[in-house]
Amino acid sequence: MPAGWYCVAYSDELAPGEVKSVRYFGRELVLARTESGKAMVTDPHCPHLGAHMAAGKIIGERIACPFHGWEFGVEGRCERIPYDETIPRKAKIHTWLHEERDGFLFVYFDPANRSPRENRVPSELGDSKWRGIMRRREWTIRTHPQELFENGLDAAHFEFVHGIGQPLSSDIHEFDDGTWSAHHRYERGLFGLRMPADLTIHYCEPGVHLTTVEIGRLAVFIVAAVTPIDEETQHQRVAYFGSANVPWPIREAMVSLLAFETSRQFEQDIPIWESKVYLENPVLCSNDGDIARIRRWFAQFY
Ligand code: FES
Ligand SMILES: [Fe+2]
Repeated sequence: MPAGWYCVAYSDELAPGEVKSVRYFGRELVLARTESGKAMVTDPHCPHLGAHMAAGKIIGERIACPFHGWEFGVEGRCERIPYDETIPRKAKIHTWLHEERDGFLFVYFDPANRSPRENRVPSELGDSKWRGIMRRREWTIRTHPQELFENGLDAAHFEFVHGIGQPLSSDIHEFDDGTWSAHHRYERGLFGLRMPADLTIHYCEPGVHLTTVEIGRLAVFIVAAVTPIDEETQHQRVAYFGSANVPWPIREAMVSLLAFETSRQFEQDIPIWESKVYLENPVLCSNDGDIARIRRWFAQFY
């Protein structure tokens, strides 16, 4: 599994006072939110005698274990034992580095436990240009995150699998923070609309890419977040943001159309991903698109 920042929940799936477990990266994680709204992400078992923390509860700014009531603060340190004044030095539950951004709860995962780096997902998600998440879609797919990324650069399959033709032109832009974007210009025919359209895909993290679709003055912003459940299975979330500068009915229609059409295309890819193998040394032809670029970029995350 590649190292990076991954979405483990939408922020609104975790209410203040709530505790729950999720399964990602081949293990369980416990998600909790304190009464003041701080998110916590911990390992599942209490360091005292191993009870499962998902059955625990929030008391103020701490999570309390369901077995003997030890209370752990947001940094994971035990701050209170209801029946003892002295807290053992080692009384700490492992917490995961996490960050909330514009409605997404991200954690940093590295199978090799190297020191973490900054989250490269820009905070533009909360930009006033975009009017919140209007639609969400999700899938569980037997594949690898890299396959989902390669798809966006695999120019030949656009027509063959999705019937949307090849882009008129494609430009790559590299940013200083190590992220990059691919801008595809379509003359017509994208998403069933006979109009010129611009599709920009910003590759940020091994589990997050951002797509902006612009058709004239109308735009939709799409966050695709893929998180490994285990080595072979991925949880793909897709969130659609409408453009704030157009009236509600138009925004609504655009987002509906894009959610429908991109989901349709995504579901055309799923059976291919689920049955394909990954070839280290594929035989490519010159019009295949820049698959090598995505592979070079992805290599840094292993
Ligand atoms: S097992 Fe958690 S407090 Fe005892
Ligand atoms: Fe595709």
